[in-house]
Amino acid sequence: MKAILITPKELNIGWCPGSGDLIIMKILAIETSCDETSAAVVKDGAEILSNVVASQVEFHKKYGGIVPEVASRKHIEVIAAVVKQALDDAKIPAKKIDAVASTYGPGLVGSLIVGLNYAKAMAYALKKPFIPINHIEGHIYANFLTPLLRRTPLHKMERGIEGVRFPFVCLVVSGGHTQLILVKGHGKYETLGRTRDDAAGEAFDKVARFLGIGYPGGPLIDEMSKKGNPKAINFPRAMLNEGLDFSFSGLKTAVVNYVKKNGMPKDLADLVASFQQAAVDILVEKTIKAAKNKKVRWIALAGGVSANSRLRQDLENRAKEEGLEISIPPLNLCTDNAAMIGSAGYYLIKKIKKSNLDIEAVSTLRI
Ligand code: KG4
Ligand code: ZN
Repeated sequence: MKAILITPKELNIGWCPGSGDLIIMKILAIETSCDETSAAVVKDGAEILSNVVASQVEFHKKYGGIVPEVASRKHIEVIAAVVKQALDDAKIPAKKIDAVASTYGPGLVGSLIVGLNYAKAMAYALKKPFIPINHIEGHIYANFLTPLLRRTPLHKMERGIEGVRFPFVCLVVSGGHTQLILVKGHGKYETLGRTRDDAAGEAFDKVARFLGIGYPGGPLIDEMSKKGNPKAINFPRAMLNEGLDFSFSGLKTAVVNYVKKNGMPKDLADLVASFQQAAVDILVEKTIKAAKNKKVRWIALAGGVSANSRLRQDLENRAKEEGLEISIPPLNLCTDNAAMIGSAGYYLIKKIKKSNLDIEAVSTLRI
């Protein structure tokens, strides 16, 4: 698919990002790829005017994981109210929105369809451009919504609009993805490595389910690990010295085998802390290795697992040791949210075709 550059006139707005004109754009963004129904209004790709996230976690908890049919039904129930809340919070009427952005993949197809169609319908009704966004790309753009940028007027920004500088290596770690991406510029990506089996978040969730800790496993393991000794059990660090791909299913099996052999410990803290440390060590070392291989100065974190306190701390420490600059989004922008989609939409609007209203959800979309 060839991207066609469109002019501000065609977009029905007074300027275009990168054109050198005054940049003022308010994008309404929608994200429903998994189990969060989210809508946001983002100004100039950096300033969050609103970011409403309706989590379905309570509905899925009892099943120990996401039930896709339940997820899509819940999205349908709340999408209109969530979008209205986002516009109300931003104190902006729908007709003052300059463009509408939405995730169109990857994710659960039934979930994607709800937000995507809602966004397309809004863009059509408002006669505004529609910007389809790759969910993984959205996670990367959470790094452009920095607190600093939200407080600093555009003309006073030392670093321009970006909080992180190109080229940078981004570790995207979520429930569905574990990927190292070289981000060369807006919309310009090179995948350096990805998981060959489970995603890191999936491993957290599966281990938590096996240990009966609850759902979602990531935040629960993170919390529990704070009371445990991460060196108590030496779990394998798979493929640590083999390229930039990952493998997490062996680590999950190692936890299962440990319990089979030694029985379920009364206090799980040491066990989960040791598991978490093994996962974090692999993620940190490969990210640093990727940055060194590509000789970049900046690294960035993205995706739900980047909310993990040990990962944030260890990666920051290692980056400092290596003299690298690091960007870590605030916690609420690590897990699924629409603000990150709004930021990506702002930077990528130049690349869209004249109309994207025929675009369909792609559950297996890659970056
Ligand atoms: O990005 P996200 O909200 O949704 C996907 O795109 O998958 O990521 C959700 C994943 C879940 O697997 C969840 O367990 C994990 O992120 N997660 C964490 C933490 N918070 C969320 N994993 C480890 N530590 C955390 N604090
Ligand atoms: Zn996500």
